[in-house]
Amino acid sequence: MNDVYILGIETSCDETSVSIVKNGVEEIATVVLSQMDIHSNYGGVVPEIASRMHVESITIVIEETLKKANMSMDDIDAIAVTYAPGLIGCLLIGVTAASTLSYIYNKPLVPVHHIIGHIYANNLNQRLKFPLISLVVSGGHTELLYMDKDYSFKKIGGTLDDAVGEVYDKVARVIDVPYPGGPIVDKMAHQGEDNYNLPLPLDDNTYNFSFSGLKSAVINLVHNEEQRGNKIKKEDLSCSFQNRVVNILSKKTMKALKEYKVNNLIIAGGVSANKGLREKLQQLCQKNNINLSVPEIKYCTDNAAMIASAGYYAYKLGIISDIDLKAKPNEDIIYNDI
Ligand code: KG4
Ligand code: ZN
Repeated sequence: MNDVYILGIETSCDETSVSIVKNGVEEIATVVLSQMDIHSNYGGVVPEIASRMHVESITIVIEETLKKANMSMDDIDAIAVTYAPGLIGCLLIGVTAASTLSYIYNKPLVPVHHIIGHIYANNLNQRLKFPLISLVVSGGHTELLYMDKDYSFKKIGGTLDDAVGEVYDKVARVIDVPYPGGPIVDKMAHQGEDNYNLPLPLDDNTYNFSFSGLKSAVINLVHNEEQRGNKIKKEDLSCSFQNRVVNILSKKTMKALKEYKVNNLIIAGGVSANKGLREKLQQLCQKNNINLSVPEIKYCTDNAAMIASAGYYAYKLGIISDIDLKAKPNEDIIYNDI
C-alpha cells in the first residue's frame, strides 16, 4: 500500500500551524506559530488581531513546513483543515488557504473538527487502541466519549455549563495570573496545599459535569477575602481548586471505563497537559489495569499535526469537501448513538 501524506492546517484560535503527517501516525514536519505573547498583553485572545496575524503568516508557515519536510505539494495526497469550531475570522483564513491549495494543486480537501483533531493527537507515534474512552478537556469542551473504531464518536456525557479550560482561565484571572492561566494555576497547585473549603462540582450518577458553582465559589472567596483586607494564598487556592476539578473528572472517567467495560483511556485538549490530572489518572489507571495514553505535551495545545492525523482517517473514509467548504464557529462533532 502506498504511503499517504496529509498536509494539515490549523488556525482556529491563536496558533497558525501547518503539519505533514504520514499514514496518520508519523509526523514528518510541523510548524506552530503562536501568537500568545501578543494576546497576553490584552489578558486573552483578541479575535481581530488573531485573524490578521493568521493572514500575515499562513503562506510563510505552509512554505516553512514543506521546506522542513523536504517535500513539495506534489508529494501531498490531501489537505486537511480545521473548519470548526473556533473563532470565525481565524477559521476562515485556514479554510481559505486549504481550499485554495486544494483547487490549485487538485488535491482532495478534508474538513476536520478541531476536537476530533485533539483526540487524534493521541494517535501520533502510537496508534489508538479500541474500544476507548476519551476524556476531552479543552478551552471550549469537556466531554466523555466512547469510540469503538476510527471516526465513530458516542457521547457519554459533557459539561452542563463551563468547559474546564475556561474555568481555569477565569480562576487564573481572579487571582491575577497572566493569560493563559491554566498552566500557571497547575504549577501553583503543586506548590500549595488543599486548605480552602471549596464545594465539590456536580457528583451525581450521570456522566455530566458542572463547574460554574466551583468557579463562582472561587470568585466569591477571593472578593470576600479582599474586602476583609486578607491576602489570598494563591498556591493553596490553586491546589484546592485543582483537586476538586481533577477528582470529579477522574471519578466519572473511571466510572465510565467500568460501566462500558473498556480498558483504554485517552485524554485530549489543552487541559490534558495538566500535571495534576495526568498524575491522578496515571495512579487510578495503574490500579485498575487500564491502558492510559496521554498526548505528548507539544500535541496538547493547538497544532496541525493532530489535524493531519485525524484528516488521514477522514480521507480514508471518504470525508471530502467541495471547494466551497464553510468555516463553522459553533459546529458540534457528529455523534453516533450510544
Ligand atoms: O484545547 P485548547 O488549546 O483550546 C481549545 O481548543 O478550546 O485548550 C486551551 C485551554 C486553555 O483554557 C488553557 O488555560 C488550558 O487549555 N490549559 C491548561 C493547561 N494547559 C493548557 N489548563 C490546566 N492545566 C494546564 N496545564
Ligand atoms: Zn484546541
